[in-house]
Amino acid sequence: METQPYEPRFAARTQRIQASTIREILKLTQSPGFISFAGGLPAADLFPLERIAEATQHILRDQGAQALQYSTTEGYPPLRAWVAQRLPRTAPEQVQIVSGSQQGLDLIGKVLIDPGARVLVEAPTYLGALSAFNPYEPEYVSLPIDEEGLEPGALEAALQAGAARFLYVMPTFQNPSGRLMGLKRRQALVELARKYRVLIVEDDAYAELYFSGRPLPTLYALDQELGGGNVIYLSTASKTLAPGLRVAWVVGPGPVIQKITHAKQGADLHSPTLNQMLVYELVKEEAWYQGQIQRIRTTYQARCAWMLEALQRHMPKEVGWHTPQGGMFFWLTAPEGLDSLELLRRAVEEKTAFVPGQPFFADGSGKNTLRLSYSSASHEEIEEGIKRLGRAMKRMLVV
Ligand SMILES: Cc1ncc(COP(=O)(O)O)c(C=O)c1O
Repeated sequence: METQPYEPRFAARTQRIQASTIREILKLTQSPGFISFAGGLPAADLFPLERIAEATQHILRDQGAQALQYSTTEGYPPLRAWVAQRLPRTAPEQVQIVSGSQQGLDLIGKVLIDPGARVLVEAPTYLGALSAFNPYEPEYVSLPIDEEGLEPGALEAALQAGAARFLYVMPTFQNPSGRLMGLKRRQALVELARKYRVLIVEDDAYAELYFSGRPLPTLYALDQELGGGNVIYLSTASKTLAPGLRVAWVVGPGPVIQKITHAKQGADLHSPTLNQMLVYELVKEEAWYQGQIQRIRTTYQARCAWMLEALQRHMPKEVGWHTPQGGMFFWLTAPEGLDSLELLRRAVEEKTAFVPGQPFFADGSGKNTLRLSYSSASHEEIEEGIKRLGRAMKRMLVV
């Protein structure tokens, strides 16, 4: 259908809601024989189907009317209590259940961003966060990352240059770069937030997915130790149970959470009650839940190791990458001048795909970067797909 007659009727903010070229190209990856590393999908073979079927039956039998009735915007109380109890000095009233952390990001944008307000983001940052914030018309300030993620010196310089509404940051297995921020930097970030009175939005979607070692404290936990009030924390059941449930949580200072609750009321009244009850049924059995997470860690660790071997075997020597210690992604850097969107076109001819890096940069840089997801691929697919990508890459580098 012609879009022309409708264009003048769209709100001005839709200028910043655009279809992406990449999505169009990636539609081709549905065809048979394709090996795609593009989607950031959790492994479907690890969804706890039987456990979910059992728990659903149980809930419908014992609490069916409650599960299918309208309920409160804040979320299912036992689930809020479970989230609060796993975080330092946090009351259930500080927890808002949301329909995916994606909704959490949208609501944060809605309550914190005025047009033209400065929002600090990592370069690269999560593409979905940019899509969530864009309609609220922020002015992004992109902060560089290195091997250990966001560099506090760059943050301080940006804060000295002017006030910002918040810093959006993923300290643990950042999407897309896979970076893990060390303890010293975490402490420095929290101290800067306190010194400059700027809020931090900490997106902790991948926290549980570490391959070895012990998890580092979250920015939220570090801030709580110092009295709290500076960090809005987001996490989700998407990466440990199943993303289709759309259950996640936002935790933070009471007044901010209250505003988010009011904004959510206008968005969808509440997140699906049955799904919230289901998530609670699963996570409340700590031993089972830990076993589920362990299965995911072991599987992703193996898939990550296969991808590393395949990259070492098939990538031209000019291409560099970050080897993750957890999460779902490899982040590759090709020589300056190689356009990864063009590389995607060539890779699609070879029947493989990835996500070009540029859309993850609010400042439009990163043309020579790309993201590969290993979470859903088999050993054979990884070996064959990376071989194809290596071929496409070599074809571009010789021209
Ligand atoms: C960093 C980050 N935040 C948020 C999300 C959205 O997750 P959810 O399924 O909870 O909406 C994702 C999903 O890939 C993500 O990578």
